[in-house]
Formats: sequence, C-alpha cells, structure tokens
Amino acid sequence: MEKIVISGPSNLFGSVKISGMKNAAVAVLFATITVNDECIIDNLPDISDVNLSLKLLENMGAIVVKLSDTKYKIDTRTITTITAPVEEAGKMRASYYIAGACLSRFGVCKVGLPGGCDFGSRPIDQHIKAFEAMGAKVRIDEGYIDASAVNGMRAANIYFDCVTVGGTINAILAAVRNDGLTIIDNAAREPHIVDLANFLNFCGADITGAGTDTIKIKGQKQLHGCEYTIIPDMIEAGTFMIAAAATGSEIMIENIIPKHLESMTSKLSETGIRFEEGDETLLVCKRTEPLRPVNVKTLPYPGFPTDMNPQTAVLLCCINGISRINETIFNDRFRYVNELRRMGAIIDIDNGIATIKGGIPLKAASVRAVDLRAGAAMVLAGLVAEGNTSIDDIFYIERGYDSIVEKLASLKAIIKRVKIQDIT
Ligand code: EPU
Repeated sequence: MEKIVISGPSNLFGSVKISGMKNAAVAVLFATITVNDECIIDNLPDISDVNLSLKLLENMGAIVVKLSDTKYKIDTRTITTITAPVEEAGKMRASYYIAGACLSRFGVCKVGLPGGCDFGSRPIDQHIKAFEAMGAKVRIDEGYIDASAVNGMRAANIYFDCVTVGGTINAILAAVRNDGLTIIDNAAREPHIVDLANFLNFCGADITGAGTDTIKIKGQKQLHGCEYTIIPDMIEAGTFMIAAAATGSEIMIENIIPKHLESMTSKLSETGIRFEEGDETLLVCKRTEPLRPVNVKTLPYPGFPTDMNPQTAVLLCCINGISRINETIFNDRFRYVNELRRMGAIIDIDNGIATIKGGIPLKAASVRAVDLRAGAAMVLAGLVAEGNTSIDDIFYIERGYDSIVEKLASLKAIIKRVKIQDIT
C-alpha cells in the first residue's frame, strides 16, 4: 500500500497535459458491447476505473489488445456472457452501462449493482424506468440488476424526473439498436454524453440532440467498429486550475476544450484569478493581488460541476473572508470537510451549504482520501499547507487521475508516492 506525501507550500510552474476524460472513457468502453465489432479507442487515461472496465469487458469474452499507453483495440464480437459479477461491477459506478449495452444487443443482462464514490444514496430508479419503457422487465435481486426483454427492446419516450448523467447514458445505450425513434427528455447535457453519442454515430448510430436536454435516437439494426479518440478530462483540468490558483502559481494547462471549462473559468474569475485562453490551452496567470471570496452552487452541466466541489473548497480556504459552496447534486458530498478540518480549515456545513472562513493558513497533517475528488482536494491542500502532508487511501485518487503525482512533480511540486512500511 502507498501514501502520497507532499512537502508544501509549493510554487508550481511549467505546463501540464490533461489526459482523456474518465467519465467519457468508461461510457465509450462499455458502449463497444453494443457495437459487436472491433473498435480502437485512443486517449484512454491510465486510471484504475479504465483498467477495471477493460477487465470487465475481457471477462465477458471481448478481446482487448493494448496498442499503446493510451490506445486499445476492443473486439466485442466474441462476447459470450451477459453477466458482470457483483465482485467486480461493484467496484465502480459505470459498470451499470453494461446493463444498457447488453439489453440493446442481447435483450438481456445480469450486472452486479454498481459501487463508486459514497456521496449518500445514489438510486438507479431512472435507469430502470428507461429500461422498462423500452420493454425490459427489471428485477433487483441478490445484488444484481437482472433484466430481460422477452419480446425484444423497443423505442420509447422517456422523461427523466431528475437530470442524470448515468441514466441518460444507459438510456442511449439501451435504445441505440431498437426499431423506431426513442426520445429522451430532461436529458443530461455533459460533454461525456456528447462524446458517447459521437462515438456511437461514428459506429453508424443515428443520435441527435446530445448536449441539449432532448436527445433523439433512431435505432439502427447494426453498428460497425470505428477508431475514436476520447475528449480531455474537464475535471482533471479544473483540478490543475485550482492547484495553480490556490498556490498563487502560473501554469499552462494543455490539451483541453476551453468551452467545457467555462463554468469554472467564470466562477474562478470572480475571485480575481486571470486566465488566458488558447485553442486547446489555458494559462492560469500568477496572482498579483489578493483574491476575493465567492459563493458557488453545483449544478448539472453547464453549471458548476459537483465533481469540483472539494477542490474548490481548498481554494476558498485560502481566500480571506466568507465563501459558500451550495451542493445541489449529492446529499453527502461534504465528507471531505472533516479531513480539511484536520488541516485547520474552518468550515461549517448546514443544509447542503458549506460556509468557509478563508484566510486561515492550512497546516500539514495526515489525512485520508474519502473519495476520488475528496482525495484530489487533499492533494491540493497538501500543496498549499506548510510542512509534510501525507494522504492515505490513495486508491480512490488513482481511480480517476492519470499520473497525478508525476504531473505535479513535473510542475515542481515536492510530492511522491511512498510505500506505507517506508514511513512507519
Ligand atoms: N439520481 C436519481 N435516480 C437515478 C439516477 C440519479 O435520483 O436513477 C440522482 C442522484 O442521486 C443525484 C443526481 O440524480 O442526486 C445526479 O446523479 P447522476 O446520475 O447524474 O450521477 P452519476 O451518473 O451516478 C456521474 C459521474 C459522477 C458525477 C455525476 C454528476 C460517471 C461514471 N460518474 O455520476 O462522477 O459526480 O455524474 O455529474 O459518469 C466522479 O467522476 O468523481 C464522479 C463521481
């Protein structure tokens, strides 16, 4: 087992290249099941959620060949089982895309209930509603989503009661090969939904409206393989934006789509941070005057991402005055606050709103990554705090950040992974 140890405070400089987006990569990887052909997927981040997705595909019978560090060939013609065991499916959230993908290709699936980060209850009622509207009978039985459509899957009109990324992706996957026109209303608009639709359209699907709240899917009997490159990870980019802003550093962030970062650049600009935007780059400029406190509200895309809530809290701890984060997506997203308090942060939580009294210097401490983005926030806090911060349970961070230690070290942070027996 390893920890991350950081000697702060850091002064970062240089440039960092953003990897492919986790949440697009896992959706596209499981979408290859519906394609029933050979696909080549590039710009896959080297993270444990991607490695586990590839393993789940292999266990189902797909042939997975590594072509380079970021590129894999996946042949799903050889799939022999529609079962994803709970022991593996339960280790990540996106494994439930196997359900939508198998329903559209085979009309049947048996998938262990998903795991993923613990932000309180994460129901899947909207996924089940979509599958049922398309003709599947769905049972949740002994930890499995057990579904079959004896008369085949059909097109349907689906209205989601809440904006759900996973539900929208699963509905697209389940609909893509059904006869007729499926319409999804109140769909999520995240860039990874557009990426999934682009991938499927490259494979011969007919999906329009991805990126808006109404998505139309004209089912196609057959899809074919393609070569596809995953979009850059906007949350990884946002995390590096905060790394620079919180440490008062200037860094260049490369391989990004600036449009995807707009809610973050706008909100951070309110604090006084300046950015210079290129076609695929963002320069976070060195701070010349004190930053101002702000209020942040997390919302579905294009709103401010809930996946940037913990990292943003670290920046707000560094700004004199009272800032607030209103979390509207997940009811238990503030589990990281206790860890930040160990570093001296003064944060009150009331009714989904964190009130942060900023400007009190963070002190190094031993802390835990309580989930993926919370772990990233601990890394950022370690960069800011004076002394040696050590972070436990870093497997959470490795689920979603490709080479975070190496990337920060290349920006001149003093950061390393340390085997636990080496420091006890
Ligand atoms: N919800 C329901 N019923 C459902 C589905 C969702 O009530 O059937 C509710 C959830 O409880 C939540 C809200 O709808 O309150 C939004 O949940 P959503 O379904 O959008 O989240 P998700 O698909 O489970 C994805 C990302 C998360 C990210 C959220 C929100 C993946 C694999 N995961 O989760 O990413 O926080 O969307 O943007 O795409 C991360 O990358 O660290 C991460 C947690």
